[in-house]
Amino acid sequence: MVKTPAKTILAIETSCDETAVAVLRLEGKTAWPEITTLSSVVRSQIQLHAKMGGVVPEAAARAHVKNILPVTEKALKDARVTLEKIDMLAVTYGPGLVPSLIVGVEFAKALALATKKPLLPVNHMAGHLYSPLGKLKDQGLKARDIFPQISLIVSGGHTLLVLMKDEKHYKVLGSTVDDAAGEAFDKVAKLLGLPYPGGPEVSRLAEQGKASVAFPRPMLNQKNYNFSFSGLKTAVLYFVKDQSGKHNTADICASFQEAVVDVLVQKTLRAAKEFKAKSISLSGGVSANRRLRQELTLACKKNRLEFFVPEFKLCTDNAEMIGIAAAFMLHNGKKPVNPNLVQATPGLEL
Ligand code: KG4
Ligand code: ZN
Repeated sequence: MVKTPAKTILAIETSCDETAVAVLRLEGKTAWPEITTLSSVVRSQIQLHAKMGGVVPEAAARAHVKNILPVTEKALKDARVTLEKIDMLAVTYGPGLVPSLIVGVEFAKALALATKKPLLPVNHMAGHLYSPLGKLKDQGLKARDIFPQISLIVSGGHTLLVLMKDEKHYKVLGSTVDDAAGEAFDKVAKLLGLPYPGGPEVSRLAEQGKASVAFPRPMLNQKNYNFSFSGLKTAVLYFVKDQSGKHNTADICASFQEAVVDVLVQKTLRAAKEFKAKSISLSGGVSANRRLRQELTLACKKNRLEFFVPEFKLCTDNAEMIGIAAAFMLHNGKKPVNPNLVQATPGLEL
């Protein structure tokens, strides 16, 4: 454990279609980083992209350019701090849409160079990974109660199963071979004629339906930790076509959701058993899905595992999770870098 001096961090996230800035306070005198969120502002571009049925990278970048300064000013104002009181900047540098990432990265670099403040580049997936762990200090848990941990990250672009040996060391056990879980939710929504963004809409309708259609559980019985959701999406497409539009949309949503949740929960539990995990954590946009949260909570109770899931505002993209990851990185001994060397990177490994 590295004891770091207290720091106020300004975190910036623009990897996709949310312009987000947060201010966090890190106290470094305890076994776990003691993190207080002073403010978190997320400006969504949903209305802009809804017209096109999905995110248009150049339009997203233009919106980030317009929003980044007012969002930063609001985050500082909400936190009741001035820029002078910020000790460090953190920014998402990938993975994500390059035009979007560039705006946050170049803004953070300019700010760091102009104010001579240190800059810490943060992997977006590390943001999701650490998002359920920001309150460890208050939860009174010891490292031996938590690690090894199996972490399931389910976002719009990624589905990752990660083994966290401790708060510093982790390894990706598996990922999706085609569509990510969130992407499958969005595509199924589209083929059912539901509005963008589709994930929350499918999950809302699923709550009103019955999981009466037995859709496939792709790769469930394969002895690896990879996932595949593209075939499941196609199965939904053919089912809808065969019914010639006479299907019950809520039941299809419930059945599709059940198939996704089933695969995610079973594979996560299998990994937890194999690696003798003490806990499971869940994060990423799809972690906002109530059914998934419910099923993993139940499975963890049954198997006497601690379960970590972030509050809803930390599930979909935000800058608070980038600040939390930055706090852990500092706590783990990571040092800021020369701002000139930071570059937006599209397909970054965790
Ligand atoms: O983490 P995130 O905000 O962005 C990426 O890093 O990709 O995840 C967004 C994804 C979208 O695919 C969205 O449809 C999905 O999360 N999502 C959900 C729910 N809320 C958001 N999927 C299922 N159920 C939800 N309640
Ligand atoms: Zn994300």
